[in-house]
Amino acid sequence: MTVTAPLVRVEGLRKLFPLNQGLLRPATSFIHAVDGVSFAIAPGKSLALVGESGSGKTTTGKLLVRLLHPTDGQIVMRLNDADVAVTTLKGDRVRAFRRHVQMIFQDPYESLNPRRTIYDTVAEPLYVQGIGNVLDRQERVAELLTLVGLTPPSTFMFRFPHELSGGQRQRVAIARALVINPAFVVADEPTSMLDVSIRASVMQLMQRLAEHLHVTYLYITHDLAVARYMSDRLAVMYLGKIVEMGDTEEVLHHPQHPYTQALLSAVPVPDPGWKRTPIEIKGGVSKPVNPPPRCRFYDRCPLAAKICEDNDHPPLEDKSAGHYVACYRA
Ligand SMILES: Nc1ncnc2c1ncn2[C@@H]1O[C@H](COP(=O)(O)OP(=O)(O)O)[C@@H](O)[C@H]1O
Ligand SMILES: [Mg+2]
Repeated sequence: MTVTAPLVRVEGLRKLFPLNQGLLRPATSFIHAVDGVSFAIAPGKSLALVGESGSGKTTTGKLLVRLLHPTDGQIVMRLNDADVAVTTLKGDRVRAFRRHVQMIFQDPYESLNPRRTIYDTVAEPLYVQGIGNVLDRQERVAELLTLVGLTPPSTFMFRFPHELSGGQRQRVAIARALVINPAFVVADEPTSMLDVSIRASVMQLMQRLAEHLHVTYLYITHDLAVARYMSDRLAVMYLGKIVEMGDTEEVLHHPQHPYTQALLSAVPVPDPGWKRTPIEIKGGVSKPVNPPPRCRFYDRCPLAAKICEDNDHPPLEDKSAGHYVACYRA
């Protein structure tokens, strides 16, 4: 058996945002948005990052595509048979890196420039990267619009975002992300702002394109049903930490972390196969500002005990064949 190298490898990733910084005053408070996150994604596979709002999902995605710079940690991507240390790239190498990665954002109304035609929007990455001549670009944009179901492409190319529905705009955003044939795409809740009636078709589209174009995804969502549909593996995030990670079906059928169990017991559509221990968690998500070293979930955890209070946040340990859990009590 040959072991393929992961396409994305993340080690000890951290991002702290200073809170009370002044011109002459260094910050003393930090939001620990991402705090020691490690994972890997195999080529052609997708990892879903799941958790409530404020858990650090978007920050993780932005770090991976270099829209943010980490406080600490490593990101290594395997691109064109070479390891690329994403966090230390500079100048021209950043531009070259951007040829391989793209991010699709949550809000299709905000992410498209209202003054640019659909053609200009989708073709922009080709211009930035200097790929092809004008005819090549027109052909490539038409091909992508067709792939995302905006057909015939000639009727969409010279329209503006406001003439399109939310679902059509998100299809444009997907076409734009895929036009340079990226190896890796971060999709940040791309269907959460869409009408329920069209979510499924956009998800199906992304699935189909991933297979067709061999894209590797980090799929960010707060919705476990969406994660189940879109991912091979699942990582559950809570206040900057991954608390559980593994094969998607395994985690959903045998959740071990009390936070995952709580998320699952709140899923409205019951699936008889999912283990649904009715579990209530106290309070809401807070902001991880200068958090104490103990388990991040301590204050809300129904299983909290002395061991959890006396020790650092538990390590993410392999409990059985690639099913990782960070809990002293699970
Ligand atoms: N640019 C920023 N400056 C300060 N705090 C931020 C910034 N971006 C995110 N945060 C904070 O970091 C935490 C994680 O945010 P985010 O990554 O957006 O979470 P999610 O996508 O899971 O909702 C939150 O507490 C948020 O308020
Ligand atoms: Mg977010």
